Amino acid sequence: MHHNKPKVGLIGWRGMVGTVLLQRLVEENQFQEIEALFYSSSQVGNVAPDFGQQSDRLLDVYNLQMLSKANILIVCQGNKYTQDVYQKLRQSGWTGYWLDASSALRLHADSIIVLDPLNRQHINQALCQGMKTFVGANCTVSLLMLAIAGLLQADLVDWISTASYQAISGAGAQAMQTFIKQLQWTAHDLPNTTNILASAKTISEKLMDNALPAKQINSPLLANVLPWIDSEMSNGQTREEWKAGVELNKILQLETDKQIAIDGTCVRVGTIRSHAQAITLKLKRCVPIDDIEQYILQAHPWVKLVPNQRKETLAKLTPLAVSNTLNIAVGRVRKMSMGEEYLNLFTVGDQLLWGAAEPLHRMLSILIDFLN
Ligand code: HSE
Repeated sequence: MHHNKPKVGLIGWRGMVGTVLLQRLVEENQFQEIEALFYSSSQVGNVAPDFGQQSDRLLDVYNLQMLSKANILIVCQGNKYTQDVYQKLRQSGWTGYWLDASSALRLHADSIIVLDPLNRQHINQALCQGMKTFVGANCTVSLLMLAIAGLLQADLVDWISTASYQAISGAGAQAMQTFIKQLQWTAHDLPNTTNILASAKTISEKLMDNALPAKQINSPLLANVLPWIDSEMSNGQTREEWKAGVELNKILQLETDKQIAIDGTCVRVGTIRSHAQAITLKLKRCVPIDDIEQYILQAHPWVKLVPNQRKETLAKLTPLAVSNTLNIAVGRVRKMSMGEEYLNLFTVGDQLLWGAAEPLHRMLSILIDFLN
């Protein structure tokens, strides 16, 4: 039987997440299964990029009629765009599928947070029930959940405490540019390094100098650690820290009395595109460490378990080692001195791939199968 290809509108495809998403659609030959529509705010009418389809013109990202041409919209444009457009588009009668990378709709009652290696069943149910809004989780949440998927599925997790080491790319393209400028500015004219303390002083002074590019963001991104991400909540958490609990429990659709407590400190560090997290978790019952490793390893194909050894850890359990891959590296797995039920682990994953673009790219595949 012949099926019409779904018309898939791409919004925010020039940004970092959008670019990585396009790359994944190319790698997985998905442009052959869809009719792509490209939207823009600044270049409406220009020729759309060519991914082996007949190149059309760029459509206006704020024009509801233009948006309504799509059966599926994949939106990587950020919160503000979704807040400005989503309700109006729905109210205009559009009944298509909205796939969103931003947090704007994550907690809406009529949205599903997608992380299919963990909640494929809920996604399937939602599709059968006619739900149309599918949202990617916060990057640290997806990366954490993929790392401990096996423990979550085995219902072994009592509570989780995390400390994140979040890459600059998570703060957006402008932060990346600032980071690069700060690197250039600081590296320029560095003194000879024979006197280490004098050099360290020079570098520190350069970093704290008001002339440092983009000093207005308060603290240098380079050679620094910023223990604050996103806005302030009334309970002392940052919004980034607050998201972990609400999103994890929504993804797993846990009943109120079964919810997993999760809290920690989210920290920006001067790495490029992979987030790391140090995790302490309390197990619901004592399980031998070999079994723990098996649960972690067998959960899905992307987990790469790194033995708790120095050489392997330093080679494989770092942001640079996993960047540009779909690997979720998990290591430093060991019981802690507090007792047999306390587990330590460390995980790294690419925040633009599994942290943002990949869950949406996979949702598109699920949707294409469902519509066929
Ligand atoms: N909120 C994340 C961060 C980005 O600030 O690193 C998620 O893609």
